[in-house]
Amino acid sequence: MTDTLNLTPDERDAELDLNQLKQLVGLVEYDAATDRFPVTGWDAIVFDVGNATMTANYYQLVWGMDLVAYAGPETGQRDHKSFVLKSGSIRFVINGAVDPDSVLADHHRRHGDGVIDIALEVPDVDKCIEQARRAGATVLVEPHDASDEHGTVRTAAIATYGETRHTLVDRSRYDGPYLPGYRPAESSRVRRPGEPKRLFQALDHIVGNVELGRMDEWVGFYNKVMGFVNMAEFVGDDIATDYSALMSKVVANGNHRVKFPLNEPAVSKHKSQIDEYLEFYRGPGAQHLAVATNDILATVDALRANGVEFLDTPDSYYEDPELRARIGEVRVPIEELQSRGILVDRDEDGYLLQIFTKPLGDRPTVFFELIERHGSLGFGKGNFKALFEAIEREQERRGNL
Ligand SMILES: [Fe+2]
Repeated sequence: MTDTLNLTPDERDAELDLNQLKQLVGLVEYDAATDRFPVTGWDAIVFDVGNATMTANYYQLVWGMDLVAYAGPETGQRDHKSFVLKSGSIRFVINGAVDPDSVLADHHRRHGDGVIDIALEVPDVDKCIEQARRAGATVLVEPHDASDEHGTVRTAAIATYGETRHTLVDRSRYDGPYLPGYRPAESSRVRRPGEPKRLFQALDHIVGNVELGRMDEWVGFYNKVMGFVNMAEFVGDDIATDYSALMSKVVANGNHRVKFPLNEPAVSKHKSQIDEYLEFYRGPGAQHLAVATNDILATVDALRANGVEFLDTPDSYYEDPELRARIGEVRVPIEELQSRGILVDRDEDGYLLQIFTKPLGDRPTVFFELIERHGSLGFGKGNFKALFEAIEREQERRGNL
Protein backbone atom coordinates (compact mmCIF):
# COMPACT_ATOMS: atom_id res chain seq x y z
CA MET A 1 0.00 0.00 0.00
CA THR A 2 1.52 3.26 -1.10
CA ASP A 3 0.88 6.00 1.37
CA THR A 4 -0.43 8.80 -0.79
CA LEU A 5 -2.05 10.76 1.98
CA ASN A 6 0.68 13.29 2.50
CA LEU A 7 0.33 17.02 2.19
CA THR A 8 1.29 18.34 -1.23
CA PRO A 9 3.98 21.08 -1.29
CA ASP A 10 1.25 23.69 -1.92
CA GLU A 11 -0.71 22.42 1.08
CA ARG A 12 2.44 22.45 3.24
CA ASP A 13 3.21 26.02 2.14
CA ALA A 14 -0.32 27.00 3.15
CA GLU A 15 0.22 25.35 6.57
CA LEU A 16 -2.82 23.14 6.14
CA ASP A 17 -3.29 20.29 8.60
CA LEU A 18 -3.67 16.81 7.06
CA ASN A 19 -6.48 15.75 9.37
CA GLN A 20 -8.35 18.99 8.86
CA LEU A 21 -7.85 18.66 5.12
CA LYS A 22 -9.24 15.11 5.14
CA GLN A 23 -12.46 16.51 6.58
CA LEU A 24 -12.38 19.70 4.50
CA VAL A 25 -12.29 18.02 1.09
CA GLY A 26 -12.93 14.34 1.94
CA LEU A 27 -9.54 12.78 1.17
CA VAL A 28 -9.29 8.98 1.11
CA GLU A 29 -6.42 6.47 1.17
CA TYR A 30 -5.75 4.64 -2.08
CA ASP A 31 -3.01 2.64 -3.75
CA ALA A 32 -1.22 4.93 -6.23
CA ALA A 33 1.13 2.10 -7.29
CA THR A 34 -1.61 0.42 -9.35
CA ASP A 35 -2.89 3.71 -10.81
CA ARG A 36 -2.21 4.05 -14.58
CA PHE A 37 -2.72 7.81 -14.38
CA PRO A 38 -1.74 8.90 -10.86
CA VAL A 39 -2.91 12.40 -9.96
CA THR A 40 -1.69 14.02 -6.76
CA GLY A 41 -4.08 16.96 -6.73
CA TRP A 42 -4.93 20.32 -8.30
CA ASP A 43 -2.08 22.38 -9.75
CA ALA A 44 -3.82 25.53 -11.00
CA ILE A 45 -7.12 26.77 -12.36
CA VAL A 46 -6.36 28.93 -15.38
CA PHE A 47 -8.90 31.55 -16.44
CA ASP A 48 -9.15 33.57 -19.64
CA VAL A 49 -10.86 36.89 -18.88
CA GLY A 50 -11.59 40.17 -20.65
CA ASN A 51 -9.48 42.23 -18.23
CA ALA A 52 -6.91 40.22 -16.26
CA THR A 53 -5.51 43.32 -14.54
CA MET A 54 -8.85 44.15 -12.94
CA THR A 55 -9.91 40.55 -12.37
CA ALA A 56 -6.68 39.82 -10.51
CA ASN A 57 -7.38 42.88 -8.35
CA TYR A 58 -10.91 41.67 -7.73
CA TYR A 59 -9.75 38.29 -6.44
CA GLN A 60 -7.29 40.01 -4.12
CA LEU A 61 -9.63 42.72 -2.82
CA VAL A 62 -12.86 40.76 -2.65
CA TRP A 63 -11.82 37.10 -2.23
CA GLY A 64 -8.72 37.81 -0.13
CA MET A 65 -6.31 36.00 -2.44
CA ASP A 66 -2.57 36.77 -2.55
CA LEU A 67 -0.72 37.70 -5.72
CA VAL A 68 2.40 35.48 -5.96
CA ALA A 69 3.64 35.66 -9.56
CA TYR A 70 3.26 37.61 -12.78
CA ALA A 71 4.17 37.37 -16.46
CA GLY A 72 3.39 39.91 -19.19
CA PRO A 73 4.95 42.41 -21.58
CA GLU A 74 7.29 43.60 -18.77
CA THR A 75 8.73 40.08 -18.45
CA GLY A 76 9.01 39.47 -22.19
CA GLN A 77 5.62 37.81 -22.69
CA ARG A 78 4.12 40.12 -25.32
CA ASP A 79 0.88 38.27 -26.01
CA HIS A 80 -0.95 38.35 -22.68
CA LYS A 81 -0.82 39.28 -19.02
CA SER A 82 -0.92 36.50 -16.47
CA PHE A 83 -1.45 36.93 -12.72
CA VAL A 84 -0.95 34.02 -10.30
CA LEU A 85 -2.99 34.17 -7.10
CA LYS A 86 -3.15 31.87 -4.09
CA SER A 87 -5.47 31.21 -1.17
CA GLY A 88 -4.44 28.25 0.96
CA SER A 89 -3.48 25.49 -1.46
CA ILE A 90 -5.55 26.97 -4.32
CA ARG A 91 -3.73 28.52 -7.24
CA PHE A 92 -5.64 30.66 -9.77
CA VAL A 93 -3.95 31.94 -12.92
CA ILE A 94 -5.77 34.91 -14.48
CA ASN A 95 -4.90 35.46 -18.15
CA GLY A 96 -6.00 38.27 -20.43
CA ALA A 97 -4.96 39.16 -23.98
CA VAL A 98 -2.73 42.21 -24.51
CA ASP A 99 -2.29 41.59 -28.24
CA PRO A 100 -5.69 41.72 -30.02
CA ASP A 101 -4.45 38.87 -32.23
CA SER A 102 -3.86 36.63 -29.20
CA VAL A 103 -5.67 33.28 -29.24
CA LEU A 104 -6.92 34.30 -25.79
CA ALA A 105 -8.85 37.21 -27.36
CA ASP A 106 -10.55 34.79 -29.78
CA HIS A 107 -11.33 32.40 -26.94
CA HIS A 108 -12.76 35.22 -24.88
CA ARG A 109 -14.98 36.43 -27.71
CA ARG A 110 -16.53 32.98 -27.99
CA HIS A 111 -16.74 31.97 -24.34
CA GLY A 112 -16.49 35.10 -22.23
CA ASP A 113 -14.70 34.89 -18.87
CA GLY A 114 -14.11 31.26 -18.06
CA VAL A 115 -11.80 28.41 -17.16
CA ILE A 116 -9.51 27.33 -19.99
CA ASP A 117 -7.31 24.89 -18.11
CA ILE A 118 -7.83 22.70 -15.04
CA ALA A 119 -4.17 21.88 -14.43
CA LEU A 120 -3.40 18.84 -12.31
CA GLU A 121 -0.32 17.92 -10.34
CA VAL A 122 1.05 14.52 -11.35
CA PRO A 123 4.21 12.67 -10.25
CA ASP A 124 4.95 11.29 -13.75
CA VAL A 125 3.85 13.33 -16.78
CA ASP A 126 5.16 10.81 -19.33
CA LYS A 127 3.37 7.87 -17.74
CA CYS A 128 0.07 9.80 -17.78
CA ILE A 129 0.47 10.86 -21.42
CA GLU A 130 1.33 7.29 -22.45
CA GLN A 131 -1.84 6.07 -20.75
CA ALA A 132 -3.93 8.93 -22.20
CA ARG A 133 -2.75 8.16 -25.73
CA ARG A 134 -3.39 4.44 -25.27
CA ALA A 135 -6.93 5.22 -24.11
CA GLY A 136 -7.60 7.46 -27.12
CA ALA A 137 -7.37 10.93 -25.55
CA THR A 138 -6.30 13.98 -27.58
CA VAL A 139 -2.80 15.01 -26.57
CA LEU A 140 -2.60 18.79 -27.08
CA VAL A 141 0.94 19.34 -25.82
CA GLU A 142 3.61 16.65 -25.71
CA PRO A 143 5.67 16.21 -22.51
CA HIS A 144 8.47 18.76 -22.34
CA ASP A 145 10.73 20.50 -19.81
CA ALA A 146 10.89 24.21 -19.06
CA SER A 147 13.74 25.52 -16.90
CA ASP A 148 15.01 28.65 -15.24
CA GLU A 149 17.19 29.44 -12.21
CA HIS A 150 14.55 27.79 -9.94
CA GLY A 151 14.79 24.40 -11.63
CA THR A 152 12.78 22.43 -14.16
CA VAL A 153 9.05 21.83 -14.61
CA ARG A 154 7.79 19.03 -16.85
CA THR A 155 4.33 19.50 -18.39
CA ALA A 156 2.02 18.16 -21.10
CA ALA A 157 -1.67 18.73 -21.86
CA ILE A 158 -4.71 16.70 -22.89
CA ALA A 159 -8.11 17.88 -24.11
CA THR A 160 -11.28 17.48 -22.09
CA TYR A 161 -14.86 18.78 -22.63
CA GLY A 162 -15.39 21.77 -24.93
CA GLU A 163 -12.26 23.87 -25.33
CA THR A 164 -11.10 23.02 -21.82
CA ARG A 165 -7.81 21.23 -21.20
CA HIS A 166 -5.93 19.46 -18.44
CA THR A 167 -2.31 20.48 -18.26
CA LEU A 168 -0.35 17.87 -16.30
CA VAL A 169 2.38 19.38 -14.17
CA ASP A 170 5.34 17.81 -12.39
CA ARG A 171 6.94 20.60 -10.36
CA SER A 172 8.89 18.30 -8.01
CA ARG A 173 12.21 19.68 -9.35
CA TYR A 174 11.11 23.34 -9.24
CA ASP A 175 10.94 25.90 -6.46
CA GLY A 176 9.99 29.08 -8.35
CA PRO A 177 6.77 31.03 -7.74
CA TYR A 178 4.84 29.34 -10.59
CA LEU A 179 6.46 28.39 -13.91
CA PRO A 180 9.62 29.47 -15.76
CA GLY A 181 8.96 32.88 -17.32
CA TYR A 182 7.04 34.18 -14.30
CA ARG A 183 8.55 36.57 -11.81
CA PRO A 184 7.57 36.69 -8.12
CA ALA A 185 4.95 39.33 -7.37
CA GLU A 186 3.22 40.67 -4.28
CA SER A 187 -0.13 42.26 -3.57
CA SER A 188 0.17 46.00 -3.04
CA ARG A 189 -3.08 46.06 -1.09
CA VAL A 190 -3.01 46.43 2.68
CA ARG A 191 -5.03 44.00 4.78
CA ARG A 192 -7.51 45.65 7.09
CA PRO A 193 -6.94 45.13 10.82
CA GLY A 194 -8.60 41.92 12.00
CA GLU A 195 -9.00 40.61 8.46
CA PRO A 196 -8.53 36.82 8.36
CA LYS A 197 -5.38 35.43 6.71
CA ARG A 198 -7.57 33.88 4.01
CA LEU A 199 -11.24 33.24 3.27
CA PHE A 200 -10.88 29.72 1.87
CA GLN A 201 -8.23 27.03 2.10
CA ALA A 202 -8.58 24.46 -0.67
CA LEU A 203 -10.44 23.56 -3.82
CA ASP A 204 -13.10 20.88 -3.36
CA HIS A 205 -14.58 20.26 -6.83
CA ILE A 206 -15.11 21.77 -10.26
CA VAL A 207 -18.32 21.03 -12.12
CA GLY A 208 -18.29 20.58 -15.89
CA ASN A 209 -21.37 21.22 -18.02
CA VAL A 210 -21.37 18.96 -21.09
CA GLU A 211 -23.59 18.53 -24.13
CA LEU A 212 -27.05 16.94 -24.01
CA GLY A 213 -26.68 13.16 -24.08
CA ARG A 214 -22.91 13.14 -23.61
CA MET A 215 -22.51 12.97 -19.83
CA ASP A 216 -21.83 9.23 -19.82
CA GLU A 217 -19.26 9.65 -22.56
CA TRP A 218 -17.36 12.17 -20.41
CA VAL A 219 -17.70 9.99 -17.32
CA GLY A 220 -16.17 7.23 -19.48
CA PHE A 221 -13.35 9.57 -20.52
CA TYR A 222 -12.39 10.21 -16.90
CA ASN A 223 -12.75 6.48 -16.06
CA LYS A 224 -10.80 5.11 -19.02
CA VAL A 225 -8.25 7.82 -19.72
CA MET A 226 -7.52 9.12 -16.23
CA GLY A 227 -8.54 6.17 -14.02
CA PHE A 228 -11.01 8.33 -12.06
CA VAL A 229 -13.62 6.47 -9.98
CA ASN A 230 -17.35 7.14 -9.87
CA MET A 231 -18.69 8.77 -6.72
CA ALA A 232 -22.27 9.67 -5.90
CA GLU A 233 -24.72 9.48 -8.77
CA PHE A 234 -27.69 11.71 -9.38
CA VAL A 235 -30.02 11.00 -12.25
CA GLY A 236 -32.98 12.73 -13.87
CA ASP A 237 -35.97 13.25 -11.64
CA ASP A 238 -33.84 13.49 -8.54
CA ILE A 239 -32.89 17.02 -9.41
CA ALA A 240 -35.72 18.21 -11.56
CA THR A 241 -38.03 21.10 -10.86
CA ASP A 242 -40.90 22.01 -13.16
CA TYR A 243 -38.55 24.01 -15.33
CA SER A 244 -34.97 22.95 -14.74
CA ALA A 245 -33.68 19.43 -14.99
CA LEU A 246 -30.26 17.95 -15.24
CA MET A 247 -28.40 14.72 -14.95
CA SER A 248 -25.21 14.64 -12.96
CA LYS A 249 -22.53 12.08 -12.18
CA VAL A 250 -19.37 12.60 -10.16
CA VAL A 251 -15.87 11.25 -10.83
CA ALA A 252 -12.83 11.62 -8.58
CA ASN A 253 -9.13 10.82 -8.67
CA GLY A 254 -7.78 8.08 -6.38
CA ASN A 255 -7.28 10.23 -3.28
CA HIS A 256 -10.46 12.29 -3.98
CA ARG A 257 -8.59 15.61 -3.94
CA VAL A 258 -9.84 16.19 -7.48
CA LYS A 259 -13.60 15.77 -7.91
CA PHE A 260 -15.46 16.49 -11.12
CA PRO A 261 -19.27 16.44 -11.12
CA LEU A 262 -20.41 16.37 -14.77
CA ASN A 263 -23.80 17.78 -15.71
CA GLU A 264 -25.87 17.46 -18.83
CA PRO A 265 -29.22 19.15 -19.43
CA ALA A 266 -32.32 16.98 -19.17
CA VAL A 267 -35.59 17.54 -20.96
CA SER A 268 -37.94 19.84 -19.06
CA LYS A 269 -40.72 22.33 -19.70
CA HIS A 270 -38.36 25.25 -20.20
CA LYS A 271 -34.70 25.94 -20.74
CA SER A 272 -32.65 24.51 -17.87
CA GLN A 273 -29.75 26.32 -16.21
CA ILE A 274 -27.40 23.90 -18.03
CA ASP A 275 -28.91 24.85 -21.39
CA GLU A 276 -28.50 28.51 -20.49
CA TYR A 277 -24.84 27.92 -19.66
CA LEU A 278 -24.20 25.95 -22.89
CA GLU A 279 -25.84 28.71 -24.93
CA PHE A 280 -23.93 31.61 -23.39
CA TYR A 281 -20.59 29.79 -23.03
CA ARG A 282 -21.02 28.50 -26.60
CA GLY A 283 -20.47 24.92 -25.59
CA PRO A 284 -19.29 22.76 -22.69
CA GLY A 285 -17.13 24.24 -19.97
CA ALA A 286 -16.47 24.58 -16.27
CA GLN A 287 -19.63 25.73 -14.50
CA HIS A 288 -18.73 26.21 -10.86
CA LEU A 289 -15.73 25.98 -8.61
CA ALA A 290 -16.38 24.84 -5.05
CA VAL A 291 -13.90 26.23 -2.55
CA ALA A 292 -13.60 24.69 0.89
CA THR A 293 -13.65 26.79 4.04
CA ASN A 294 -13.57 25.69 7.68
CA ASP A 295 -15.79 28.62 8.68
CA ILE A 296 -18.41 29.21 6.03
CA LEU A 297 -20.29 31.72 8.21
CA ALA A 298 -17.29 34.03 8.58
CA THR A 299 -16.37 33.59 4.91
CA VAL A 300 -19.88 34.43 3.70
CA ASP A 301 -20.01 37.48 6.00
CA ALA A 302 -16.65 38.73 4.71
CA LEU A 303 -17.52 38.12 1.05
CA ARG A 304 -20.92 39.78 1.39
CA ALA A 305 -19.28 42.78 3.04
CA ASN A 306 -16.96 42.89 0.01
CA GLY A 307 -19.91 42.95 -2.37
CA VAL A 308 -20.21 39.29 -3.47
CA GLU A 309 -23.79 38.37 -4.31
CA PHE A 310 -25.14 34.95 -3.36
CA LEU A 311 -28.25 33.15 -4.56
CA ASP A 312 -31.19 33.78 -2.27
CA THR A 313 -32.61 30.83 -0.42
CA PRO A 314 -36.33 31.05 0.32
CA ASP A 315 -37.33 31.16 4.01
CA SER A 316 -39.58 28.22 3.22
CA TYR A 317 -36.42 26.13 2.79
CA TYR A 318 -35.52 26.58 6.47
CA GLU A 319 -39.08 26.33 7.75
CA ASP A 320 -39.76 23.05 5.94
CA PRO A 321 -40.30 20.46 8.72
CA GLU A 322 -39.05 17.67 6.42
CA LEU A 323 -35.75 19.48 5.98
CA ARG A 324 -35.43 20.16 9.71
CA ALA A 325 -35.98 16.47 10.44
CA ARG A 326 -33.54 15.38 7.73
CA ILE A 327 -30.62 17.59 8.70
CA GLY A 328 -30.77 17.06 12.48
CA GLU A 329 -28.10 18.80 14.58
CA VAL A 330 -25.50 20.98 12.86
CA ARG A 331 -22.76 23.08 14.45
CA VAL A 332 -24.78 26.31 14.54
CA PRO A 333 -28.47 27.14 15.02
CA ILE A 334 -30.51 26.99 11.79
CA GLU A 335 -31.30 30.69 12.23
CA GLU A 336 -27.58 31.49 11.72
CA LEU A 337 -27.70 29.65 8.39
CA GLN A 338 -31.03 31.17 7.40
CA SER A 339 -29.87 34.75 7.98
CA ARG A 340 -27.00 34.09 5.54
CA GLY A 341 -28.83 31.82 3.07
CA ILE A 342 -26.48 28.89 3.73
CA LEU A 343 -27.84 25.50 2.67
CA VAL A 344 -27.36 22.29 4.61
CA ASP A 345 -27.45 18.68 3.49
CA ARG A 346 -26.95 15.41 5.33
CA ASP A 347 -26.22 11.85 4.26
CA GLU A 348 -25.16 8.66 6.04
CA ASP A 349 -21.58 9.95 6.50
CA GLY A 350 -22.34 13.39 7.95
CA TYR A 351 -23.41 16.80 6.75
CA LEU A 352 -22.23 19.72 4.68
CA LEU A 353 -22.94 23.43 4.54
CA GLN A 354 -22.89 25.18 1.17
CA ILE A 355 -23.85 28.37 -0.62
CA PHE A 356 -23.65 29.49 -4.26
CA THR A 357 -22.74 32.88 -5.69
CA LYS A 358 -24.45 34.46 -8.65
CA PRO A 359 -22.44 34.25 -11.90
CA LEU A 360 -19.31 36.38 -11.48
CA GLY A 361 -19.02 37.63 -15.05
CA ASP A 362 -21.34 39.25 -17.56
CA ARG A 363 -22.59 36.00 -19.02
CA PRO A 364 -24.71 33.61 -16.91
CA THR A 365 -21.91 31.02 -16.83
CA VAL A 366 -19.19 30.62 -14.19
CA PHE A 367 -19.98 30.91 -10.48
CA PHE A 368 -18.56 29.81 -7.14
CA GLU A 369 -19.71 27.56 -4.33
CA LEU A 370 -18.46 27.70 -0.74
CA ILE A 371 -18.52 24.37 1.04
CA GLU A 372 -17.84 23.31 4.63
CA ARG A 373 -17.84 19.51 4.99
CA HIS A 374 -18.54 17.67 8.22
CA GLY A 375 -18.12 14.04 7.19
CA SER A 376 -20.45 14.16 4.19
CA LEU A 377 -18.73 13.29 0.91
CA GLY A 378 -21.76 14.39 -1.09
CA PHE A 379 -22.41 17.46 -3.21
CA GLY A 380 -25.68 18.71 -1.75
CA LYS A 381 -28.10 16.47 -3.64
CA GLY A 382 -30.84 17.27 -1.12
CA ASN A 383 -30.40 20.96 -1.86
CA PHE A 384 -30.59 20.77 -5.61
CA LYS A 385 -34.32 21.31 -5.84
CA ALA A 386 -34.30 24.22 -3.40
CA LEU A 387 -31.29 25.63 -5.19
CA PHE A 388 -32.76 25.28 -8.68
CA GLU A 389 -35.88 27.09 -7.67
CA ALA A 390 -33.67 29.96 -6.54
CA ILE A 391 -31.63 29.83 -9.79
CA GLU A 392 -34.81 29.85 -11.86
CA ARG A 393 -35.99 33.02 -10.19
CA GLU A 394 -32.70 34.59 -11.37
CA GLN A 395 -33.08 33.12 -14.88
CA GLU A 396 -36.57 34.56 -15.05
CA ARG A 397 -35.21 38.03 -14.18
CA ARG A 398 -32.76 37.69 -17.10
CA GLY A 399 -35.60 36.59 -19.42
CA ASN A 400 -33.96 33.23 -20.15
CA LEU A 401 -36.50 30.82 -18.69
FE1 LIG B 1 -20.91 21.93 -6.29
